[in-house]
Amino acid sequence: MKIITCVAPVNIAVIKYWGKRDEELILPLNDSISATLNIEHMCAKTTIMASSNFKENKIWLNGKEESFQNPRLSNCLKELKKRSQTQSDVINWNIHVCSENNFPTAAGLASSAAGYACFVYALAKLYEVEGDVTYIARQGSGSACRSIYGGWVQWHAGALKDGSDSIATQIVPASHWPEMRVVILVVSDSQKKNSSTNAMKRSAATSKFLEYRIKHIVPERTEKMIQAIKDRDFETFATITMKDSNQFHSVCLDTFPPVKYMNETSFIIVDLIHTYNEFRGSTKVAYTFDAGANACLYLLEEDVPEVISLIQNAFPTNTDHVEYFRGIPVTEQELSEELKKTINISKQDPGMLKYIIHTNVGEGPQILGENEHLLNDVGLPKK
Ligand code: DP6
Repeated sequence: MKIITCVAPVNIAVIKYWGKRDEELILPLNDSISATLNIEHMCAKTTIMASSNFKENKIWLNGKEESFQNPRLSNCLKELKKRSQTQSDVINWNIHVCSENNFPTAAGLASSAAGYACFVYALAKLYEVEGDVTYIARQGSGSACRSIYGGWVQWHAGALKDGSDSIATQIVPASHWPEMRVVILVVSDSQKKNSSTNAMKRSAATSKFLEYRIKHIVPERTEKMIQAIKDRDFETFATITMKDSNQFHSVCLDTFPPVKYMNETSFIIVDLIHTYNEFRGSTKVAYTFDAGANACLYLLEEDVPEVISLIQNAFPTNTDHVEYFRGIPVTEQELSEELKKTINISKQDPGMLKYIIHTNVGEGPQILGENEHLLNDVGLPKK
């Protein structure tokens, strides 16, 4: 029997991946860039046990048993076995996998990236796989390959048919820009989710705008973004981040039939951020939205107290049983009269935000000690 437990982080793209050139190998149409978020506040935790006693492969996700008959899982497993350097019998045994997120799944935050990154990272350790595993994580979920590294990460689209050059690399480590902070606004949203896999397939098939974006916008934007990150040039970074998010959501609307992810609350947040930046006289905060209504804000540490106060003023909570504010503690700051007067914050109905997570850029996946295992001695979930 062999067992391992790992944690892997979430990542939030600032140049979005949207559209594939190969559905099976999960090869993207364009390069993308993201920051890896601190594992402490948001992560997937996965235990994998391999044993000669197991009759079949089994997987439990967030407390529920799911089918292992999933081509993405089996592709990752196949690739890992192919690359294994182990002398032991472990790759011939079946596995039990138990995985959970440390943030509520109901939040609708992208968890597949952290989940697949964790699965591939943990199994690569168990099977003694050497070298790059981003191209294996990519075959679980495209964005998962960026969660294999900490800091700022680029996923190269690559050009080869077999996808061997479609890998993720680190641009700079988290320590390069220690002042960077991330605030996630979890928006209450009853809208039915369009899976990103299906929606991006439809975009690639129908959107001329996506074609234009890939050819004429993303290459130059990617170069500028890398430079802005290297130079710690917040204004350029923030402007490109917002523009790329807006363009991704425009491509969604240009898709036929259209895909809509942002809701009314999302657009109120967009307006609030632009008004605030205007008040400050420079770009202090950037927003970005993925395949859902939640906002992710990038900003520098020094601006966090004021921005958090602004958000809490505009979006009062309607609940006292859920922890509304999570993550890195912030000292409360009274908003200045000038700011209140200029921005003229209109208070929204309570409960439009479910909660707020304040985090920063962090490290890649890690192996945990044996006290952390999610499976018991016979390979069943402890809870
Ligand atoms: C909007 O990685 O979830 O978050 O490769 O089909 O699993 P699949 O899609 P997924 O798409 C993520 C899209 C995005 C943008 C991004 O993270 O770059």
